[in-house]
Amino acid sequence: MPDYIPEPFRIKMVEPIKRLDRAQRESALKRAHYNLFNIRSDEVFIDLLTDSGTGAMSQAQWAAMLEGDEAYAGSRSYLHLKDVMEEIFGFEHFVPTHQGRAAENILTAIALKEGQFVPSNMHFDTTEGNIRARGGIPVNLVNQIAYDPQAETDFKGNMDLEALENFIQEKGIENIPFGMITITNNAGGGQPVSFENLKAVSKIYRSHKIPFIIDACRFAENSYFIKMREEGFADKSTLEIAQQIFKLADGATMSAKKDALVNIGGFLALNDSKWFDQVRNELILREGFITYGGLAGRDLDAIAVGLKEGLQEDYLEYRLGQTAYLGNLLSEMGVPIMQPPGAHAIYLDAAALLPHLSREELPGQSLSVALYREGGIRGIELGTVAFGVEDEESGETIYPKLEMVRLALPRRMYTQSHLDFVASILEKIKDNASDIRAMEITRAPKLMRHFTAQFGFQ
Ligand code: F0G
Repeated sequence: MPDYIPEPFRIKMVEPIKRLDRAQRESALKRAHYNLFNIRSDEVFIDLLTDSGTGAMSQAQWAAMLEGDEAYAGSRSYLHLKDVMEEIFGFEHFVPTHQGRAAENILTAIALKEGQFVPSNMHFDTTEGNIRARGGIPVNLVNQIAYDPQAETDFKGNMDLEALENFIQEKGIENIPFGMITITNNAGGGQPVSFENLKAVSKIYRSHKIPFIIDACRFAENSYFIKMREEGFADKSTLEIAQQIFKLADGATMSAKKDALVNIGGFLALNDSKWFDQVRNELILREGFITYGGLAGRDLDAIAVGLKEGLQEDYLEYRLGQTAYLGNLLSEMGVPIMQPPGAHAIYLDAAALLPHLSREELPGQSLSVALYREGGIRGIELGTVAFGVEDEESGETIYPKLEMVRLALPRRMYTQSHLDFVASILEKIKDNASDIRAMEITRAPKLMRHFTAQFGFQ
């Protein structure tokens, strides 16, 4: 039996959850047109749709919220956050935003022109969407190994450095307003990026004077992976590692709903003062004044405390341990997953689990529906539905390389027995895999279709 690291906290308040019976789950699925985003949370037993904004805050965070200063300008809460921002990230400027995608929206609004490219290891879907919405072209240059679910390597989120250099040469720096990297690489299995790779990426971007922006959603988890896995970092604190990482960059976007352990919030941080002037204008126009950015003062306090808590090493040991526990349990059962387990989620290899379904039969969507039907468990398809695109000329679907279902673990939320339950349902699905039927999209918008698409059985 794999080890489970005991939670470094105890539970002071509980939120009841219910398991509907099978017939109720079946009718919920029908009503939702087989899109798990349309299921009500009360109809879900174990909700692994996302680790974003779904975690449990600590008593210190709740206490800080009571001291929130709701002044429109220059609040104490903003200054608390500013102190922490300076300590961890060290950028010249930052603005709070209501969540990560708002930071992406502002960044792309001020920096990106139509037809320009933005390279990254892999963009997350909202980043990709924001770049496309401005007429830009998101480009993923992760090492090829990231696309092999079985390949085990310590830093599977690393950028392909040669591909990055070649790409810049080919497109020209005038067509690349900024470059990015996502830590950890959410679209590719929640896999970490090594410090060495970050340093090399920074060197490449900087040698071409391309501003380097880190998508920092899960920077603390990535820092802990570096501490555990990379030579020379074992004796450094995760805070020191994070500080070193951000010294390599010219800015960051962050959804605080992940490693800052809050239910809402984010920020955009930059060194460049000219860009920042434009950021301020955009922010005031769309989000709110620069010292609150669309959040309440109390939210800023929760983020300030959460950013530090998210770096605590006993928490991170448990956090990564919990994910590894579920991953190892599934591997022992022969349920194929992206190896090795990442930080915030286990990614089921739906194509391997349901080999009788071809890509157009949507194995990822079929698996996510089966998880709900069998166990009231909600995951998210990250495969053809989420990332498949229609070729503009031929109208044919271009399939993404991976066909995954992500089981994201909300922070400090579920316990070992919940994970055991999830694994037992997946074992059942695996044993009866050939019963799972092909699905099709019956209705979908063009952009980010997985949120609102409707499905049926073929
Ligand atoms: N970047 C990454 C790597 C993300 O994972 C997310 C959100 C965002 C940006 C956008 O942040 O949601 O606060 O606007 N990821 C969530 C998820 C939604 O489920 O993985 P946001």
